[in-house]
Amino acid sequence: MICFNEKNKTFHLTGKRFSYIFYVNAAGFLQNVHYGAKVEEGDIAYLIAHRAKSHAPNPDSMNCDMALNEMPSEFSPYGRGDYREPTAIVLRRDGARMSRLRYVSHKIFDGVPEVKGMPHARGGGRTLAVTLKDDCSSLETILHYTVWDESDVLVRNAEYVNAGKESVVLEKAYSFCCDLPEGDYSLLRLWGHWARERYPETVPLGHGVTRLQSLRGASSHQMNPFTALLAKDCAEEHGECYGVQLIYSGSFALTAEKSPVDTVRLQGGIQDIGFSMQLGGGETFVTPQAMLTYSDEGTGGMSRSIHDFIREQIVRPDCVYRRRPILVNNWEATYFDFDNEKLFAIIDEAARLGIDTFVLDDGWFGKRNDDRSGLGDWFVNENKLQGGLKTVIDRCKKNGLKFGLWFEPEMISEDSDLYRAHPDLAIKKEGVKPVCGRHQLVLDFTRKEIVDHVFGVVSKVLRENDISYVKWDMNRNITEVYSAALPPEKQGEFMHRYILGVYDLAERLTAAFPHVFFEGCAGGGGRFDAGSLYYFPQFWTSDDTDAYERTKIQWGTSYAYPLSAMSCHVSVCPNHQTQRSTPFETRGVIASLGATGYELDLSKMSQEDKEKTKAQIAAYKEIDELVLKGDLYRLSNPFENNYFCEMLVSKDKNKAYVAGERAHGCPCDYDKTLRLYGLDEKKIYFIRELDITASGKALCTAGLNFPRLPDFGGWVWHVEEVH
Ligand code: GLA
Repeated sequence: MICFNEKNKTFHLTGKRFSYIFYVNAAGFLQNVHYGAKVEEGDIAYLIAHRAKSHAPNPDSMNCDMALNEMPSEFSPYGRGDYREPTAIVLRRDGARMSRLRYVSHKIFDGVPEVKGMPHARGGGRTLAVTLKDDCSSLETILHYTVWDESDVLVRNAEYVNAGKESVVLEKAYSFCCDLPEGDYSLLRLWGHWARERYPETVPLGHGVTRLQSLRGASSHQMNPFTALLAKDCAEEHGECYGVQLIYSGSFALTAEKSPVDTVRLQGGIQDIGFSMQLGGGETFVTPQAMLTYSDEGTGGMSRSIHDFIREQIVRPDCVYRRRPILVNNWEATYFDFDNEKLFAIIDEAARLGIDTFVLDDGWFGKRNDDRSGLGDWFVNENKLQGGLKTVIDRCKKNGLKFGLWFEPEMISEDSDLYRAHPDLAIKKEGVKPVCGRHQLVLDFTRKEIVDHVFGVVSKVLRENDISYVKWDMNRNITEVYSAALPPEKQGEFMHRYILGVYDLAERLTAAFPHVFFEGCAGGGGRFDAGSLYYFPQFWTSDDTDAYERTKIQWGTSYAYPLSAMSCHVSVCPNHQTQRSTPFETRGVIASLGATGYELDLSKMSQEDKEKTKAQIAAYKEIDELVLKGDLYRLSNPFENNYFCEMLVSKDKNKAYVAGERAHGCPCDYDKTLRLYGLDEKKIYFIRELDITASGKALCTAGLNFPRLPDFGGWVWHVEEVH
C-alpha cells in the first residue's frame, strides 16, 4: 500500500510486515523517516515534525544545504554539502557537476514501471514515482518504489531524464539510495571464486565506505550483487536485517557507508568505475531494479521473503513451479572426449535409472576437442557424432528421454571458422593485443548485428532438433572494454550495453522457444543473480560438485536465492575438483537440496550405485515440491558447525524435509541440539526415519540430537503432520 499525506508531504509505503516512510522537507529534499517494522501512519507523524527541526535545511538560506550531510536522504546529489557517496553525478558541457535535486511531483499507480530490455519484477504491486529536478542542471530523476501487500520486498530504481536540449553525461547513475538510522550493523556479503561461489562473510560495518563490486562485465564469482545489513542482535531466526540485491547481471557496485554519526547509507546499481552515459536532450536512462528486503525474523526470514519474491516475480511463471527435469550431464563423465558409443551408453543407462533428460555439454560443435577452439561454430561436429545430433536425440527418444544441449553463445575462439571469417566480431581494440581467458575471446554483444547473428545460429540448432533443455554457459570475463562500433563519447556505456545484448538474446531465445527450459551457467556460478534468474529458472551453482564443499556453497547461495534455482548434481568420487571421497548417499542428499541431477558416467557405475540412484530419484520425487515451493530454514551452519543441516517446510506446515551432513568425526558433537525451527508449534508431527511423534513446539524448542554418522555422512528426515 502507498499513502501520501498531503499535510505533512509524507509517503508511507507498506508491504506485508514493513513500513518505508519519507517526506518532502521544507527545502524540497526527500528525507527518510523510517524503514523497518510496520507502523500505522498516525504513529509516525510526531517524528516528521521532530526531524523537520533537526535536519532540514532552511530554504531561505542557500548555505543550509550543508545539513544534507546529516540528512537521511532518498537520493544524494553531488557537490552541495552531502559529503557521503553521491547517488549520481551529472557532468555538463561547462565541466560543472554540482547538483541540487528537489521534489517536483509524484504519481502513484498500479503495477511495476517498465524497465525495457532488462529483467524486472513482473507485475502486480503498486508504484510510487517521485520526480526530482536539479536546480543546477537540466537533469530530472524519477525515483520508483514498488511494493506488494503480500511481500517484504520493496523494489526501487531511478530513471534519469535530461529535460534540457544540450547533452549531459552521467558519470554515475545508481539505482537507489537508502539511508538507515544510526546503528551498530554488520555487513553480510557473498564473496567467492571459481568452484567456491557465494561464501557468506559477516563483518562489523566500520566507518567509511564498504564497497562490494564487480568490474568483470558479469556479476561474478568473486562478489555477488547482494548484501545485507544486520542489526546487532540479528541471528538466523531473530533480529532485524535489511537485504539488498540487484536484478542485474553486469558490472555492479553496492556500497554501505557508515557516517561519523553512525548512520548508514546503502546504495548501488551499475558499476560507476569506467562508466559514463551520454544523455542527449530529451533522453532518458533507466537503471536496473534493486530489491530491498526488511526482516525482523533474522537472516532466515529475509531469505524466505527473497525466495518467495524471486519465485513469484522474477522466474518465468511457466517454469517456476514446474517439476524440474532430472538430468544427466556428460561433462564430468567424458569432458571433450566422447563419441556416439560413449553417449549412448550413458543414455541407455539413464533410462534404466529413471533419469528423464540427457544434456550434451561442451564439445559437440565445430572443431572443439579441447577448450582452445570452435566457439562460435554452432554446427555439429560429425567426426565426433556420426549422424549428427539427430542420432543422439533419436537414441534419447528411443529410451523415453528428453535431450538438452550446451551453448556458450557470447564467446568466440580465435581458432574457429567464425573468427577466421570475421575477426572483428570479438571485443578488442586495434593496436592492443586482446587478453584471452580459457583461450577464448568475447563477442561484442553491444552490437545488435552480432546478437542477431548468434540468435540466428542458435535458433537454427533449436529449430532443427528436438531440444527441450539448453545450458547457456559463459566462461570468461571481459577485459578490453571497448567497442569498435561505438563513438568515443559512448565507450563508457560499453559494459551496460554488453549485458543489454545478453538480455536481448536471452529474451528472444526464450520467447522463440517457450518449450525449452534454459539453465544458466558461467564457469559454474559466475553470473548467479536475480537478473539471470529472470531468463534461466535455474543456474549451475558451482563447478565444485564435492558433497562437502557444496554444503557451504549452497548454504551461502541460499541467503539470496531459492533452492529451486540451484542446479545440484551427484558426481563421481574421488571428486574431480577436490579429490575428496564422500559416500554416494551423501552426494544424493546434498544434490536433493536443489534441482537435482547427475554428472558422471552412469554406464561405469557399480550395480550398487545404480540401485542407489534409482532410490535417490524416487526419493527426490517425493520432496521436489518442497524444493520448488517450500520455505527454507537453515538449521546448522557448516561454516560454524561440524554439521550442515537445512529444512524445507511446506507453506501449510504439514510437511517438512530435513537434510544434512556431518563433516568429520568429532567427539560428542552429535549430542548438540538441533531445533527444527519452522514447524507449526501447535501441530503434532511424525518423523519417519526416527519413528518419533512429537509436537511442533517440542521439536522447535527442545529439538533433537544430530544423528551419529561417519565422516561426510549424510541424512534425511521426512516430517509429516499427524492428524
Ligand atoms: C563450464 C561449466 C561446466 C562445463 C564447462 C564446459 O566450466 O561450468 O559445467 O559446462 O564449462 O566447458
